[in-house]
Amino acid sequence: MPTFLPLRAFGKTPLRVTPLCIGCAPLGSMPEAFAYDVAEEQALGTLRACFQSPINLLDTAASYGDGESERRIGIVLRELGGVPSGYLIATKADRDLKTGDFSGTQIKRSVERSLRLLGVDKLPIVFLHDPEHARFEDIMAKGGATEALVKLKEQGVIGHVGMAGGPVDLMLRYIETGFFEALITHNRYTLLNRSAEPLIEKAAQMGLAVLNAAPYGSGILAKGADAYPRYAYQAADAVILERVRKLEAICKRHKIPLAAAALQFSTRDPRITSTIIGLSRVERLAETVELAHTPIPPEVWPLLDAVGFAQDDPEANRWNLRGVHVSSSREKND
Ligand SMILES: NC(=O)c1ccc[n+]([C@@H]2O[C@H](COP(=O)([O-])OP(=O)(O)OC[C@H]3O[C@@H](n4cnc5c(N)ncnc54)[C@H](OP(=O)(O)O)[C@@H]3O)[C@@H](O)[C@H]2O)c1
Repeated sequence: MPTFLPLRAFGKTPLRVTPLCIGCAPLGSMPEAFAYDVAEEQALGTLRACFQSPINLLDTAASYGDGESERRIGIVLRELGGVPSGYLIATKADRDLKTGDFSGTQIKRSVERSLRLLGVDKLPIVFLHDPEHARFEDIMAKGGATEALVKLKEQGVIGHVGMAGGPVDLMLRYIETGFFEALITHNRYTLLNRSAEPLIEKAAQMGLAVLNAAPYGSGILAKGADAYPRYAYQAADAVILERVRKLEAICKRHKIPLAAAALQFSTRDPRITSTIIGLSRVERLAETVELAHTPIPPEVWPLLDAVGFAQDDPEANRWNLRGVHVSSSREKND
């Protein structure tokens, strides 16, 4: 077993996780989100390296490549004879991507498919994924999606139940129900967007495990505005491109990679249990550990803040939520 990065408590649960977590969305090949394909052999090679890395937590979802991310993880787990000692795989239960069905029955079906694809009989952590695609009342109803996960926990199929999604006010409403032991927020607590600040604060106060996903805003803060002009799974707009170029210039002056600042913006926050970084190449594992430990002079942080960041929802125009959920937007900080 490799030496893991220092482990910390996963909220109030007995699980212990590293401050970095491997995000397996790109490994499922999701060109609609990332604008590139990831071939199976590349993904399998990356996953084999993940299970020798000092990062003990992997994050996937039933919906990533509609099962492809889990299927690929499952291939490597079968090669290894199961989940190697010390590693944890967190997945997420999803709506039916074709029909939109987000019922309790569908969530049970989703978990059953995850177990089958991953080739395991238990899951330590399952998140309810992207409930912004349904009505709060339906997700929390008797016999609904939340109850289905809680039942699976009572049956011992799931160790712990979490909540993962986008709109901040909606996520707050869910965690306040007290049903969830962990939270994933994404793209909303980065150098470019701080709208999840109150959510992270509340979740930390409640003692939830807080996972901050997409520290690179889905890639632009790692690859740069010229190489990858996409943000939060869409083409980056002019404001974002200008801000990223300013951030790049500050980091260049201080001889640090922008990716190091973007990653440590999250990892240095004591309220955040683990930061989820999406990757699809073997070399990313060593790069990620190095970026997390690159010294950043303290005077750089206020300079990065002064570039400005948004406080509204970065995905407000991405989904047609058909009126199921309307997220609030706040003023931009320029
Ligand atoms: N609703 C939810 O629960 C939710 C939503 C979003 C994300 N997530 C989770 O969080 C994870 C992270 O989010 P994300 O993948 O969307 O975005 P992200 O972590 O902000 O960025 C991922 C992108 O950064 C690139 N990258 C990573 N390390 C790099 C490095 N050292 N140098 C250059 N490029 C690098 C990856 O490229 P390569 O592919 O080339 O390695 C990929 O294109 C997801 O994979 C998923 O597991 C959950």
